[in-house]
Amino acid sequence: MTTILKPHGTTEDDITAEVLRRFDATGEPRLRQIMQSLVRHLHAFVKDVELTEAEWMNAIQFLTETGHMCSDKRQEFILLSDTLGVSMVVDLINHRKPEGATESTVFGPFHREGAPELPAGGNMAPRDMKGIPTVVSGRVLTLDGEPIAGARLDVWQADSSGLYDSQYAETDELHLRGQFRTDEEGRFLIRTVRPVYYAIPTDGPVGRMLSATNRHPWRPAHIHFVVSAEGYEPVTTHIFDDADPYLESDTVFAVKDSLICTFVRHDIREPEAARFGLEPPFCTARFDFVLKRRG
Ligand code: BEZ
Ligand code: FE
Repeated sequence: MTTILKPHGTTEDDITAEVLRRFDATGEPRLRQIMQSLVRHLHAFVKDVELTEAEWMNAIQFLTETGHMCSDKRQEFILLSDTLGVSMVVDLINHRKPEGATESTVFGPFHREGAPELPAGGNMAPRDMKGIPTVVSGRVLTLDGEPIAGARLDVWQADSSGLYDSQYAETDELHLRGQFRTDEEGRFLIRTVRPVYYAIPTDGPVGRMLSATNRHPWRPAHIHFVVSAEGYEPVTTHIFDDADPYLESDTVFAVKDSLICTFVRHDIREPEAARFGLEPPFCTARFDFVLKRRG
């Protein structure tokens, strides 16, 4: 009787097993774990949906376009990761905080280096004439409630039209960005405009994915912060306006209850206005950041 030798890779599962085997020799154990898990999940996904050749080609074109859309002002891959919820899963896995420490959320694609150092009360939005003047104040504290002096707050937000400075093609100027420091009692004071809800950029493949799946592109109004201090773990986070209609459906899944903050609107002249040199209407918001010691 003749034995028929089965060539490698006759079935779908043979291919998966053989690809996994080829990564067995990877010297770096973490890289081996990542590559083999990636292959396992990717193959399972393709088999699960029985991907057609046309769909596979579509996916290749989508990823190619995503790459072409990237520049030093635009990061379509981060946007894709954000809208698929991957960024928030990575955030949650990597920042398991003790009770009481300020929670982190997505970094997003709009941070820029080199924001101006501003004094307490410095205005991040000197050219935004439409926005409601807003003062954000609070303290940076330890888990025990002690003030952290000299903590740095790197702050950025969209303007009252819902756009970041880098989305204006005609200028490279930094606007609605600032770096603030806390005083001896851990206090900070930021002058800005009230944030508004805005749509993430929809003129690329991520926008097409959202509209093809009937998803909206809106992010609830927020201000971005990276808060850091010597000897403490920095936190990348936002504060969200509690009056926003998109808190429940943020297109990048980044809202956490502990980051929701009340923006109080002041419509009449009151001592608060004089303190900040503001004419009504204006808003005030208070938020304390709590950092965990390193190690
Ligand atoms: C942002 O908040 O700046 C942002 C985050 C994720 C995707 C797009 C924008
Ligand atoms: Fe944002």
